[in-house]
Order: sequence, then C-alpha cells, then structure tokens
Amino acid sequence: MSLLDADVAGAAGSGKRPGPVRLDGVSKAYGRGRTALLALDRVSLDVRPGEFVCLLGASGCGKSTLLSLVAGLDPVTGGSIDTGGHRVSMMFQEPALFPWLTVARNVEIAMRLRGVGREERRASAAALLETVRLTGFGHKRPHELSGGMRQRVALARALAQDADLLLMDEPFGALDAMTRDILHDELERIWRERSLTVLFVTHNVREAVRLGDRVILLSSRPGRIIEEFGVDQPRPRRIDSTEVAGLAATITDRLRTEVSRHAQ
Ligand SMILES: Nc1ncnc2c1ncn2[C@@H]1O[C@H](COP(=O)(O)OP(=O)(O)O)[C@@H](O)[C@H]1O
Ligand SMILES: [Mg+2]
Repeated sequence: MSLLDADVAGAAGSGKRPGPVRLDGVSKAYGRGRTALLALDRVSLDVRPGEFVCLLGASGCGKSTLLSLVAGLDPVTGGSIDTGGHRVSMMFQEPALFPWLTVARNVEIAMRLRGVGREERRASAAALLETVRLTGFGHKRPHELSGGMRQRVALARALAQDADLLLMDEPFGALDAMTRDILHDELERIWRERSLTVLFVTHNVREAVRLGDRVILLSSRPGRIIEEFGVDQPRPRRIDSTEVAGLAATITDRLRTEVSRHAQ
C-alpha cells in the first residue's frame, strides 16, 4: 500500500461537522540554499465545507505540490494549513489500482486497512460500486476495464476511505472527451449526494468552469494566486455550453497573459 491512497490526513472520526479548509500564506521550497526551488509562494485560500473549488494553472506551477501539502504528504516551508477536521482522500490521473486484485477488493482495501470487518467491507464495497455505476463489475480485474471505468473504481476507493474532502489531481486528464464529460456528471452527482468538499486541480479551463463553484487561477512558478473567478451558472453545466465557453475564454486570456509574461 503506497501513501498515495492511504487515508492521508484523516481527522479522527469525531462525528463533528468539518469546518473550512484554510491555507494561510503557504509557501513550499524544494531543496535548500542557492539551489532551492520555490514551488509555491504565500498561497492563502479558504474553502467552505461542501464547496467545489478548481485550481487552474500552467504545467509546473505547483498544483500537485499544493494538493500534497493539503494531504499532509509533504511539510510546508512557510505558512499553515488547516483541513478543518475533514477526512482527506486523494485521486490521481493514473488510477493506481492493484492489478492482481479484483475491482471489489481494490475498493475494500482502504476499509481493510482501517480494520473494518469482512461482511461490512463486502457490503460497503458493493454499495460504492453501485454509487459509481459499476454494479456487476466487482469480480473483474483492472485490466479488463476501460480507462473511464478504472477511474470510477479509483473514485469508489477514495470514497471508501470515508473521506469528505476529496483532493483530485487532474483525475480525468487521460480520458477521451466523451468519457470525461460523463465522469463530470457522475462526480457532480456524488459531490452533491455526499456533501463532499472538493479541491480539483486541472490545466483544462473548460473543465474548471464546468465543475467549480470557484476557479482559482495560479501564476507560473512559483505558484501564487493571481485571480479568482466565481462560477454562478446553474448546474449541471455542459462543457460545450456558450456560458461555460464564455467564462473559459476570459480565464484563458488571463492565463495566456500570465504564461507569456514568464516565457520572455
Ligand atoms: N519532490 C520534488 N523535488 C523537487 N522539485 C519538485 C518536487 N516536486 C515538484 N517539484 C518542482 O516544483 C514545481 C511544481 O511542480 P508540480 O507541483 O508538480 O506542478 P504542477 O502539478 O502544477 O504541474 C516544478 O518545477 C517541479 O519540478
Ligand atoms: Mg501536477
């Protein structure tokens, strides 16, 4: 079991409603001294419980770094992070499933590590597979599934950790457009049904506008927050709607200015 899927920063199951996720002046440098590389520069951000926030920025601007700090996988260099008592789970572009385990066992493994008994594990895994619409696929192995279905399993496994804060690092980046659209719908439904808080990282502007309550734009490295866009369009949105395309165009212009400023 790698840290990737571990219950990375879970607060004790206190039953209390989680508070906001707070990043206060968060900086991250890799290495020390002259060769140190500043990946993030004083990032401050509050995320309300139940909010869906998209972090958008060019490749290398520190998006994955930010998620790993929130997950507690890596220490901050400056500032502080409070996950507000949320239980945290992460999901990546690569589903990182265990190839020798069936789909159901892949979902169960998180519960097994928490000491959940066999009967309860089986029942919960079946319910989670139903949630991600994979009923009947529990006995399959990952290689028998399509890329979209494998990401559904990864999502079920993330939910199996009883998480209420989902950190998603370009989870649909490797999928074709049609599959990705369907998974956007599914994720939105599950986010609502389970009152999840989501921090979703992407470099796809339309995807950010399709999904987010807010889109946070990061600068090129070192990542700083340069602008924030509220998305008050009704849900569910369509990624190819004029409204989504319109706001995406505005954000893309802003992002382009930022990227070209650094390319000189
Ligand atoms: N463990 C690490 N050690 C050294 N440098 C790193 C490490 N992780 C990321 N970086 C550097 O930090 C910067 C931000 O990386 P990353 O967070 O992966 O960006 P993004 O996810 O936005 O593409 C990059 O320049 C990357 O090379
Ligand atoms: Mg990344």
